[in-house]
Amino acid sequence: MNIKALRADLVTFTGDPFLQAPERCLRYIPDAIVVIEDGRIADLGPASDLLARLPQGIVPEHYPDGIISAGFIDTHVHYPQTEMIGAYGEQLLEWLNTYTFVAEQNFASAEHASRIAGVFLRELLRAGTTTAVVYCTVHPQSVDAFFNESARFNTRMIAGKVLMDRNAPQALLDSAQLGYDQSKALIERWHNHGRQHYCITPRFAPTSSDAQLEVCGVLAREHPDAFIQTHLCENRDEIKWVLELFPQRKSYLDVYANAGIVRDRSVFGHGIHLTEEDFCTCHQTGAALAHCPTSNLFLGSGLFRLFEAKDPKRPVRVGLGTDLGAGTSFSQLQSLNEAYKVAQLNQTRLNAIQAFYLATRGSAEALCLDDRIGTIAKGFDADLVILDKKATPLMALRSEFCKDIVEQLFVLMILGDDRAVRATYVAGEQVYDREAEGEKFSYPD
Ligand code: GUN
Ligand code: ZN
Repeated sequence: MNIKALRADLVTFTGDPFLQAPERCLRYIPDAIVVIEDGRIADLGPASDLLARLPQGIVPEHYPDGIISAGFIDTHVHYPQTEMIGAYGEQLLEWLNTYTFVAEQNFASAEHASRIAGVFLRELLRAGTTTAVVYCTVHPQSVDAFFNESARFNTRMIAGKVLMDRNAPQALLDSAQLGYDQSKALIERWHNHGRQHYCITPRFAPTSSDAQLEVCGVLAREHPDAFIQTHLCENRDEIKWVLELFPQRKSYLDVYANAGIVRDRSVFGHGIHLTEEDFCTCHQTGAALAHCPTSNLFLGSGLFRLFEAKDPKRPVRVGLGTDLGAGTSFSQLQSLNEAYKVAQLNQTRLNAIQAFYLATRGSAEALCLDDRIGTIAKGFDADLVILDKKATPLMALRSEFCKDIVEQLFVLMILGDDRAVRATYVAGEQVYDREAEGEKFSYPD
């Protein structure tokens, strides 16, 4: 048996702080020990209790300035856009044509795809993200490249081939039948292969014909435990275009509902301009929204109404996403920084308990994976991040003046980024060590 232990302060969540008093949802254990057995959490508690019952010979890895959290979960991100993050000047539709569809053509090369997948996964781990819901490109080899690298790290990842059969460059188009055949073969190869899960991935309504969206519905029915991802109500011009392309549908979301792809394990990116009826549909079906604040600000898309989505009368599952390359950082701490500001502009207040819940357990709930990841508790996967309160001189000073853990978490999300990630553990193995000499990343044995 492979046993190890980690020692630092610990935070995790026991419930949804948008639906209950936030302080009741936070579990904070100063100077905690987490015991890991064969990749899962076997025990946790205050060091003062745990030290006495640690298995013989087990010396905890101690992070004196650390906070142990469940690894971050990114519910919406595009790995092929790593090479074009920070592309100047455009809003969604022009940005796609000018930059995105150009970069994605590079993924016809399996070699290029492997190179970028390698960089992308390391950037996620450097940011403390251990699970992500990932768009590949239309090329099946882009999916193989991604899952092959994820399998090497043993990260729990959800990804799929983009389906597009219109309104994009010819080199990025498949067809309804080809999209079905390729997705089916990839599902057979990768879905539930170790910690890899497949995601049926029509890019968004404008780039799929009715026939292709129907095919997605067929795939979804044939594989009820597969995930589905697409974009929804991100930008006003996009919405107008969708209503022109699908005049018989009563809303953008209705295009997807009609195709049979609105259900639990469906993750819709953005949802900025949704109506009350749309929120009700998400609530009733169990579909999730991915809140992507850095992207929404970067592309000028608008302000996601988080507190409306999470209205306790009909709460919608909401996860947090970077949406890189429209998003501007791999760090979910930076996503939370911008989520706080988006909430402010909506005249609402995102507290640190709600924020860290969103980046961990809340995102796991959005993915129906909350029985395995997103929480530090016995039996859960040991996907963990060690955050560093003193990552920078400014953070060290500011942290000295924090009166409690909630203020400390808030400072981490406002000032923190990948520098505040001391180490990342995947299924109990350290895969990233900021302080390592030379190579900071390692595949588990
Ligand atoms: N809508 C359709 N494709 C994309 C994409 O790649 N990024 C974003 N932000 N929105 C999209
Ligand atoms: Zn996106």
